[in-house]
Amino acid sequence: MKIDILTIFPEMFKPFISESIVGRAVKENLVEINIHNIRDYSKDPHKKVDDYGYGGGKGMVLMPQPIFDAVDDLKTDDSIVILMTPQGEKYSQKKAYDLKDKKHLILICGHYEGFDERIRTLADAELSIGDYVLTGGELASMVITDSIVRLIPGVIKEESHLNESFNDGLLDYPVYTKPVSFRGMDVPEVLLSGHHANIDKYRYEESLKRTKARRPDLLEGENYE
Ligand code: ADE
Repeated sequence: MKIDILTIFPEMFKPFISESIVGRAVKENLVEINIHNIRDYSKDPHKKVDDYGYGGGKGMVLMPQPIFDAVDDLKTDDSIVILMTPQGEKYSQKKAYDLKDKKHLILICGHYEGFDERIRTLADAELSIGDYVLTGGELASMVITDSIVRLIPGVIKEESHLNESFNDGLLDYPVYTKPVSFRGMDVPEVLLSGHHANIDKYRYEESLKRTKARRPDLLEGENYE
């Protein structure tokens, strides 16, 4: 999979694409991530990428020319173009699974007070990472990229996905490591028992209990016993 990200703040992505699990996936060629400076595509003599919005009121608005030219340059028949905006469809784990099998994603980061409405015509989808407004789409594009990259086969252990939050519609169960007793808090005995059926039952019940308490909305219309 290849992910091209269009931004006016390319420096923000340096640690993101070189550190931790995403960094390792890039080094091992499990994913190709390219960061493109929208400014490099500007035909303006001063490399301008934004200007005042017509009608007044709003601040600076991203201009269409550099972004249209960047997409023209990068897009192929396999590309999906996605615009980061708080007005987009709400992003979810399900969406991450839908996107992980695509060959090529082009993520456009909006910025400042907004982007020229005509830029919307380039996008196959618009995504929001939540009901709050960020200063730009950079963090949103990193969130989306991170959640997709970890699903690419070979990036993390396959078993890690089996029981993780949202995969079966439930939040994850609690996990413990050494020591068995810490500041008066003990690891539940069932986890030390070696009895796998009981451990599975405990984990399922804990997942359900936790989901009911914290995210009852996830259970609506579902029939968990
Ligand atoms: N840009 C600004 N806020 C955003 C959000 N919540 N999701 C995606 N892109 C954004």
